[in-house]
Amino acid sequence: MASIAQTTISPVKGSFNLSNYDCVRKSFDWEDASKELHFWESGKVNAAYETIDRHVVDGYGDKIALHYINENEKRSLTFSEVKEKTDHYGRILKQHGVKKGDRVFIFLPKTPECYISILAVIKIGAIAGPLFEAFMEDAVKDRINDCKGTVLITDKDLVQRVQRADIPSLETILFSEDIEATPVENDREEVVEWLGKEDGLIIHYTSGSTGKPKGVLHAHRSMIHHLQSGKWVLDIKDDDVYWCTSHPGWVTGSVYGLFAPWLNRATIVIQGGRFKAENWYQLMEDLKVTTWYSAPTAFRMLMSQGDLFKNYDLSSLRHILSVGEPLNPEVIHWAWNNLGLRIHDTWWMTETGGHLIVNLPAELIKPGSMGRPFPGITVGILDDEGNELPRGEVGQLAVRAPWPGLMKEIWGNKDKFDSYFKYEGWYSSGDLALQDEDGYVFFQGRSDDMINSAGERIGPFEVESKLIEHPAVAEAGVIGKPDALRGELVKAFITLRTGFQESEELLEEIRLFVRKNLSAHAAPREIEVMNELPKTKISGKILRRKLKEWEIQKVQ
Ligand code: WTA
Repeated sequence: MASIAQTTISPVKGSFNLSNYDCVRKSFDWEDASKELHFWESGKVNAAYETIDRHVVDGYGDKIALHYINENEKRSLTFSEVKEKTDHYGRILKQHGVKKGDRVFIFLPKTPECYISILAVIKIGAIAGPLFEAFMEDAVKDRINDCKGTVLITDKDLVQRVQRADIPSLETILFSEDIEATPVENDREEVVEWLGKEDGLIIHYTSGSTGKPKGVLHAHRSMIHHLQSGKWVLDIKDDDVYWCTSHPGWVTGSVYGLFAPWLNRATIVIQGGRFKAENWYQLMEDLKVTTWYSAPTAFRMLMSQGDLFKNYDLSSLRHILSVGEPLNPEVIHWAWNNLGLRIHDTWWMTETGGHLIVNLPAELIKPGSMGRPFPGITVGILDDEGNELPRGEVGQLAVRAPWPGLMKEIWGNKDKFDSYFKYEGWYSSGDLALQDEDGYVFFQGRSDDMINSAGERIGPFEVESKLIEHPAVAEAGVIGKPDALRGELVKAFITLRTGFQESEELLEEIRLFVRKNLSAHAAPREIEVMNELPKTKISGKILRRKLKEWEIQKVQ
């Protein structure tokens, strides 16, 4: 049996209403929870309406919806202003013929315009496809081509990475710089398109261990999950200033950077620019951030700066959450001993649409564990036949399906979608875990070759495919190598084509080739040249597992 951490950290008394949490554990019910949304009675659904317009109708138009902060810019917008801007963007999209169900991609840095564009697309009933700002040409092209996006909202800088000639479905490119100043023909026209709960909301591309990234499509019903997890896990209150550090191109950045906080009427923080410890602490001091959702790699980077935090007034901070990769107990102890706060780990996936395993603010934390199932969610640890294993044994982490946030489909790939449900009644995550007697779940790794570097999911196949496009590379096998800071780093093993000699320059050139065409986060940080790669005897498939074993042995 795997070892389980023995220490626990109790909730911080005073900052949370503990009795409410006790109650929700006992009586939570998805059906009742759904009724808290406006659409339950009217039957008219639109996530953009629920996140923004509804608050204006309810009299909160003057409340600050967002603070935007970048190296040389700082501005804030109220809910009324965000409503007006989403209306305007929506009308412009309609003028370009965008209709219900069309896929509209958004390729923008982390700015208010990125969030406004996503909501404008949703407001007129189309499906939003947000792309991470660091994606390069091929990553952008493959994603838009896969679900035949017709319109792209981008800016004059990022458009250079859009190879329009290779994206035949793309009819229109709009620049965020221009939309604001473009007049609309009919500014009284109703913008909100009323939809059904099953209508498409957002599509996020995500990596598995095989094939290209898949389009995970979510429906409007997932708002029920977003609203409830925002309320109970993020613990959003009216005077909170909430900061999620993820870009909306990733699911954490859309669900917990946009939908969940705004459904709960939070003031959110949008921060541009790259990670810099000083800027992060300064931002928290300046904007009096109360709630902060980030990832273990970021916490480890801040930890490595030692006492730097002492130079800043972080007294407004009351709630910290983490997601995306294993949260080491050392990190939890660091925050507890230095900031006086617990870090609440959360586990979920792009496909699950919302939190499934969480540490509610009022409950005991066991450092090393991801927490316990969210109320209304049942977890199972299964063997290879789909039978539930006894508590304490390691197996496949599965969840009783369905629940409101669960994906609607994988775009154009029913077989892939079905593969998540190979055990009757269960959603299989691909993660390995164990659950202790108290219900706490401990992450044990992946059952496939998916790489998790700094909380970002990287498919080895996509990186391998790019590597072998380089003229010097004959074959490639890509794995995640254990790394103290990033959790894993992308490492490639390659064989060279005849006529090419290994050299520092060549390896750097290959690395830059992936960086330039795919994205910086997926480019291998290490490349090792081999005479041959280990392969399966029968099919000749490259054995990534073997490569990983070697790498782990080297580290030990
Ligand atoms: C991993 C991010 C350990 C896991 C929301 C999962 C985690 C994958 C945790 C999903 C956690 C996510 N502890 N591992 N708290 N949270 N993971 O789709 O392997 O980008 O399957 O969703 O990240 O990554 P995705």
